[in-house]
Amino acid sequence: MLACASRIDVEHAGGAYPIFIEPGLIHAAAEMLAPYARNDRLIIVSDGQVWAAQGPRLRIGFAGAGIALIPIIVAVGEQAKSWSVLINLIDRLIALGVERTDTIVAFGGGVVGDLTGFAASILKRGCTYIQIPTTLLAQVDSSVGGKTGINVQAGKNLVGAFHHPAAVLIDPTALDTLPERQVKSGYAEIVKYGLIGDAGFFNWCEAHGHAVIAGDLEARIHAIRASVAAKARIVAEDERETSGARQLLNFGHTFGHALEAETRFGSALLHGEAVAIGMKLAFGLSVELGICGKEDPDRVSEHFG
Ligand code: GLY
Repeated sequence: MLACASRIDVEHAGGAYPIFIEPGLIHAAAEMLAPYARNDRLIIVSDGQVWAAQGPRLRIGFAGAGIALIPIIVAVGEQAKSWSVLINLIDRLIALGVERTDTIVAFGGGVVGDLTGFAASILKRGCTYIQIPTTLLAQVDSSVGGKTGINVQAGKNLVGAFHHPAAVLIDPTALDTLPERQVKSGYAEIVKYGLIGDAGFFNWCEAHGHAVIAGDLEARIHAIRASVAAKARIVAEDERETSGARQLLNFGHTFGHALEAETRFGSALLHGEAVAIGMKLAFGLSVELGICGKEDPDRVSEHFG
């Protein structure tokens, strides 16, 4: 385990798991993942873009560790969260002889994490998995808290399971190869943590959001740590979204999911873009209902531009 990595623990009914946040973690992942490699191999689920951009950094660390990385590459984009891709993934994992004692690594954005986590939850009645999120959205939201699943005709994330990873390894330098549109999409989820309960953090976003988007490493680390810590607190309080606390994390998502469904989960609207619009719409509705002053939506709209 890396001594230098900053660590936030997520507590849940079944125990707890660590989230490590440290630049360079992908390169050093072999050291952390070696104990999870059965028969000197580790199965990595990724998509073609992430594997091309970040796979070589992961491989370097494993080269000297005597552990074979076995990549399974799934389609890029939200449409990979589907029955057909899930079935194909499960078939390939079974063909590889995966046992319940194996650990599957999800290496990619929210789609890869949600899909892999769900596959791990049902394969052999539940396998261990680890998340290495490579998009800002996955690092600050979807890799934390154990929600896994796929989309179906009737809507987003309607089939899935709560299945926590054994660990999450967040390397902020993975974002260096991420297109700006994807960074902005993830940034919406960061702002969400300010809007749902931390006015001071929203003030910080107003002052430093441009630095997060522009690639300032310190700003990114601060934003990721603050977001993960906020989510870990909420998940510990309301793991299964039954008492209301976790519902806060869905702020802007009701409108957002409707917009995503309307655009058929395609690339016309990324998840974070839909959530940003959804949060603005939710503020607008709150003004209409008389439960929110008009100055708040103006500030949010101005921040998102
Ligand atoms: N992304 C919302 C949640 O994890 O509850």
